[in-house]
Amino acid sequence: MISALSKEFFLFLSKNRTLNRAAKKWGLKLGASQVVAGNSIEAMIVKVRELNEKDLVCTLDHLGEFVSSKEEAATATAAAIRTLEAIEKEGLNSHLSVKLTQLGVDIDREFCVNNMRSILETAQKFKNFVRIDMEDYLHYKITLNILQELRETFQNVGTVMQAYLFCAEEDMQKLQGIPLRIVKGAYKESPKVAFQHKKEIDENFMKLIKIHLLGGNYTAVATHDHHIIAKVKQFVEEQQIPRDQFEFQMLYGFRTEMQQSLADEGYKMRVYVPYGSDWFAYYMRRLAERPQNVSFALKGLFLK
Ligand code: FDA
Repeated sequence: MISALSKEFFLFLSKNRTLNRAAKKWGLKLGASQVVAGNSIEAMIVKVRELNEKDLVCTLDHLGEFVSSKEEAATATAAAIRTLEAIEKEGLNSHLSVKLTQLGVDIDREFCVNNMRSILETAQKFKNFVRIDMEDYLHYKITLNILQELRETFQNVGTVMQAYLFCAEEDMQKLQGIPLRIVKGAYKESPKVAFQHKKEIDENFMKLIKIHLLGGNYTAVATHDHHIIAKVKQFVEEQQIPRDQFEFQMLYGFRTEMQQSLADEGYKMRVYVPYGSDWFAYYMRRLAERPQNVSFALKGLFLK
């Protein structure tokens, strides 16, 4: 009950535009610096380099939410391109993750597609890969639709499939050959479209991972759940799925020991590294996912 309430509360805060706007001026507060790799590109480079030195590869997310003008979306596009340029210039081992709402999908679909094209052209020039994060169900269909349009020109783009969605299995069949990150799903969705119980979500999660792997597709298993990770390890062993056909992914600052031990065991371990001043909504969603994460925030109150 308490955890359900806290989930609602933090998701509510994550959507509060006034707080999000104010937080940009605060700098990283409330413990956010433990899960956000700095405010600036320079700070991010230091953190990614540290991770790479430990055999952890990355995907960078220049944070941004609630884009309501073309100007803001163009700024976000430029930031994504700058991130790709920094990866190349600094020799970092990192992909890029982006959100279509940041790139203006709610303002003008074609404008957003063009922004994605500019990002993908830069990534292609540097032989890099861009993943479109999956947002709430409201943006689900348009995200898949744009992905398929972009895949007609670009091979270096993939997306995310959320195991809480009833339609995930069917839709995944249409995404054969496309690299997918598979996750449980981070948003609050209606029981009309999504499983609500952990057991059902976990079962569907494993099912999707197996289908995508057995289809010969490159699969990113993104979870901090050691039960799922153990099952995936066993499954790939039994099915003799080569290690270069999948990777594990976790968020920056979460289960760092497990990240390291997976890398040490020879699995590809990719850390999702968010950075930038627009940290508030991202951080609130992480607190919503796991009430224990609130201890980050409480400790953070005392961190300078
Ligand atoms: P979950 O939160 O269900 O935890 C299961 C169990 O794992 C817990 O009961 C506990 O035992 C253990 N555990 C989990 N976290 C722990 C911790 N920090 N310390 C110790 N034990 C812990 N979502 C989305 O909708 N769209 C997206 O694009 C993405 N992208 C994305 C990228 C990456 C790299 C990750 C890791 C996640 C996402 N997500 C996402 C978020 C995802 O959908 C999901 O909300 C979170 O990962 C939380 O679910 P988990 O699978 O991690 O485990």
